[in-house]
Amino acid sequence: MEWIKVFSSGDEARRRLKENVPQLLIMNATRLCLVLRNNNFYVVQDSCSHNGESLSKGIVNHLGEIICPWHGHQFNLITGRECSERSSDLSTYPVKEDSDGVFIGL
Ligand code: FES
Repeated sequence: MEWIKVFSSGDEARRRLKENVPQLLIMNATRLCLVLRNNNFYVVQDSCSHNGESLSKGIVNHLGEIICPWHGHQFNLITGRECSERSSDLSTYPVKEDSDGVFIGL
């Protein structure tokens, strides 16, 4: 796994991201969806496993599920699982935060 730095610090990330608002990241030609929620970072593949819509255009509900704007499939941000098993699980990516910054593992 390669750790890619996305912010120079956790503080910078929390200043630039809005809580529960998905953010598209493109890293090494891979589209990812990053969410700051309850002070933690979550990353899933950006492409919805149902029909490919960009999940970073979706919303996050009070349960911590990202909802695809196209047909409403709901995915758990931690596990990537679609809540009603209507489509396959999303890939999830680890995030680490330390004194050197915030990193995503690809
Ligand atoms: S493309 Fe996401 S629910 Fe259909």
